Amino acid sequence: MLTAQTETINALDLAWVRSQFPSLAQIVNGHPATFLDGPGGTQVPQRVIDAISDYLKRDNANTGGAYATSRHTDAMIAGARSAMADFLGCDPDEVIFGPNMTSLTFAISRSIGRELGEGDEIVLTHLDHDANISPWRALEERGVTIRMVEIYEDDCTLDMDDVARKITDRTKLVAVGYASNAVGTINDVKEIIRLAHQRGAMSYIDAVHYAPHGPIDVRALDCDFLVCSTYKFFGPHMGVLYGKREHLKRLDPYKVRANTNAIPNRWEWGTLNHECIAGITACVDYLADLGRRVSASASARRAAVLAAYDAIQKQERGLMESLIRGILTIPGLRLYGISDPKRYDQRCPTLAVRINGRTPLELATRLGERGIFTWDGNYYALNLTERLDVEKDGGFLRIGLAHYNTAQEVACLLATLQEIVG
Ligand SMILES: Cc1ncc(COP(=O)(O)O)c(C=O)c1O
Repeated sequence: MLTAQTETINALDLAWVRSQFPSLAQIVNGHPATFLDGPGGTQVPQRVIDAISDYLKRDNANTGGAYATSRHTDAMIAGARSAMADFLGCDPDEVIFGPNMTSLTFAISRSIGRELGEGDEIVLTHLDHDANISPWRALEERGVTIRMVEIYEDDCTLDMDDVARKITDRTKLVAVGYASNAVGTINDVKEIIRLAHQRGAMSYIDAVHYAPHGPIDVRALDCDFLVCSTYKFFGPHMGVLYGKREHLKRLDPYKVRANTNAIPNRWEWGTLNHECIAGITACVDYLADLGRRVSASASARRAAVLAAYDAIQKQERGLMESLIRGILTIPGLRLYGISDPKRYDQRCPTLAVRINGRTPLELATRLGERGIFTWDGNYYALNLTERLDVEKDGGFLRIGLAHYNTAQEVACLLATLQEIVG
């Protein structure tokens, strides 16, 4: 696991963190709003809101024009690319902006698909979000064969022996999630990427669920592509893709003729959501500021982001430990995924549960009435809910912690669940 290049990381100042997020102060039905819906999208700090509205107020223009607001827009986008490069550990020209992870993945899969045909194979997993499955399955119409990696149902982890078996000399690409958005499992993506490269295959990492919980270093991973969505880590509704420069140059995107052939812009089509791109820089700067507050020696933005994740992981670990300990005492409750405290390094604080006699929708609705926001269903991790045979019964209740959650919120959730179950 990556750590910041700093000696001491202090605990994060939760009062400061919460003061950054105006939405956390809401009251719903007389109860303080408790946001346990982070896996569906996190809340945003005030500076992200300000950056979006300041852009619209002052700099709203299209790119490439010979006048002030257009030049400001070009500079702003370049700044956001640098911010995401610091976040991911790459160069700015390897950063592609798009509307969301799903659209970016369909775009890349179509382009990679141009080079594939009969006899070529793509390896996917049963643990993944459908956005990292359907775009690749679409290539079956070109004759590509899809191989699905098995999981261990008892703890919802990938069968790594099966990963090694399924990757062969016919494999052209391995697409796998960094972490499961349903059950929280963190996959050993570094090892999977190594196995892919050993057989000459490319790797495509879906880091959407991992990004709010842990630091990403695309160079250390050596992945070929990695994709994430800023709305899952305190930013606006946008998707971001990292691609190795050699692939971004070599692969052939579907694009309009007037668009440049230079990277990164050849992978960005039409007019992007400029105001949200302005919000992306603010979101990375929020994390960097958090990092500087917990580590005196983390001044450069990348170092500060890494320091922030050290503190975020400590905060989330404490909350997750008490949440899992408490939730396992609820009668009739089953937790899906890793529950052994010795293995908590291998999971995010995202819990999928079912309670006998209650549908996930009923539980989410009752909690919602008390101002506690959770999610129910499959969250598009459809392969997993079908595999675990819970799809027909409403999927799971998902409880997702973020670093801005508090011990009181966890206690309140547990007490409310106990009360609902009776
Ligand atoms: C793990 C994972 N991958 C992909 C996606 C899709 O992301 P987007 O909404 O940006 O298309 C999500 C969204 O929930 C997700 O959780």
